[in-house]
Amino acid sequence: MEDLVNNIPKKVVYSGIQPTGIITIGNYIGAIDNWLKLQEDYNSLFSIVDLHALTVRQNPAEYRQRALSFFAQYLAAGIDPNKAIIYFQSHVKEHAELCWILNCFTYVGEMTRMTQFKDKSKKNEDNINMGLLDYPVLMAADILLYQTDLVPVGVDQKQHLEIARDIAIRFNNLYSPTFKVPEGYIPKQGAKIFSLQDPTGKMSKSDPDPNASVAIIEDPDSIMRKFKRAVTDCETTVEIREDKPGILNLLTIMSAMTGQTIESLADEYRDGGYAKFKQAVGESVVEKFRPLREEYNRLMQDKGYLMQVAKDGAEKASRIAYRTMQKVKRKIGLVELK
Ligand code: TYM
Repeated sequence: MEDLVNNIPKKVVYSGIQPTGIITIGNYIGAIDNWLKLQEDYNSLFSIVDLHALTVRQNPAEYRQRALSFFAQYLAAGIDPNKAIIYFQSHVKEHAELCWILNCFTYVGEMTRMTQFKDKSKKNEDNINMGLLDYPVLMAADILLYQTDLVPVGVDQKQHLEIARDIAIRFNNLYSPTFKVPEGYIPKQGAKIFSLQDPTGKMSKSDPDPNASVAIIEDPDSIMRKFKRAVTDCETTVEIREDKPGILNLLTIMSAMTGQTIESLADEYRDGGYAKFKQAVGESVVEKFRPLREEYNRLMQDKGYLMQVAKDGAEKASRIAYRTMQKVKRKIGLVELK
C-alpha cells in the first residue's frame, strides 16, 4: 500500500474484534479509540473476526445479526471507509489458508501455554475444540497477511501478539524475510478497563452480569443506572490510590471520555462524595456515545450501504492478502499454477 502523495510506503495498522456479546466501553477505550487516531496516518485494516468467535457455539441467526451490528458500530464510531479497510474476516479466504500453513510452524506446547486458552478451556469444559487451541495462530495469520507494522489492542492481547511475532520470526529465519514482524500498540492508560461489579477483573464483552459492563450503544438510562451501582469502596474521597481500584477505574473511564487527566478529575471530585462522582462519570459516558448511538441506529436501517462497505473492504483486503499468500507459497515450495 503506497502513499500516493509522497510516494513513501505508509505503515500498516491491523486490528479486530470478535463478534461476541457487546462492544463495551472497554473495547472502545483499549482499542477503537486508538484506531480512530491511527487511521489518519496509517494504512489501516479493521476486521470483524467472525471466524475466531466460532470457537464458542453461536446461534446462527443471532450471530449473523450481531456481526452486522458490530460492523455498523465500527462505522458509527468513526472508522472511515475512505481512510481504512473495514471488512469481515470470513470474506477473505486467505486468513484460513495462512492459518493452516502457520499451524505447521507452531508448536502445540506454545498453544497449551496461552493464558486465554487455559481460561476459556475452564469456562467451556464441554467444548474444548481445536479452534480454541488454534485461536492465536489464526490471529497471527490475520496480522501477518497484511505485512502489519502496528497492532492496536488492549493489554489482554499481549501474549497473542508475542506469539504472532515469534511465528513470523521463525518463518523468516527458515525461508528468508517474508513477514513484517509486528509491534503492539497498547495505550499507557486504559489498556485494561475493569468490570463495574468487580474492579479487579476485566470488563468483558460476554460477562453474564449485565451490570458489569456497558455497551457503546447502550441507552442513557441504563448507562446511568450501571454507573450509580458501580462497586467502589467504603471510603468517601475520590483519590488515585492502588488500593481503590473501583475509583481508579472510574477515573480512567472518565478521563478517556473527556480528555481530562485522571489527576485533574481526582482534584475536581475529591470531596464531593462518590454519588456525585459516579453521576458525573455516567454523564460523561452518555454524552461521549450519544452521537455514536444515533449514527448506529441510522446505519442499521441502511443494510444496503453496510453491505457495500463490507464488499469493498473484502475486495481491497483480498488483494493484499493474495500477494502475501503468493509469496508464502513460493517460499515453502508449493507448485504454482501459471
Ligand atoms: P476481543 O474481541 O476480545 O477484544 C477487542 C479489543 O478490545 C480490547 N479489550 C479491552 N481493552 C481494554 N479494557 C478491556 N476491558 C478490554 N477488553 C477487551 C482487546 O484487547 C482487543 O484489542 N483476539 C482478539 C481479536 C483479534 C485480533 C486479531 C486483534 C483477532 N485477530 C488481530 C488484533 C489483531 C480478541 O479476542 O479481542
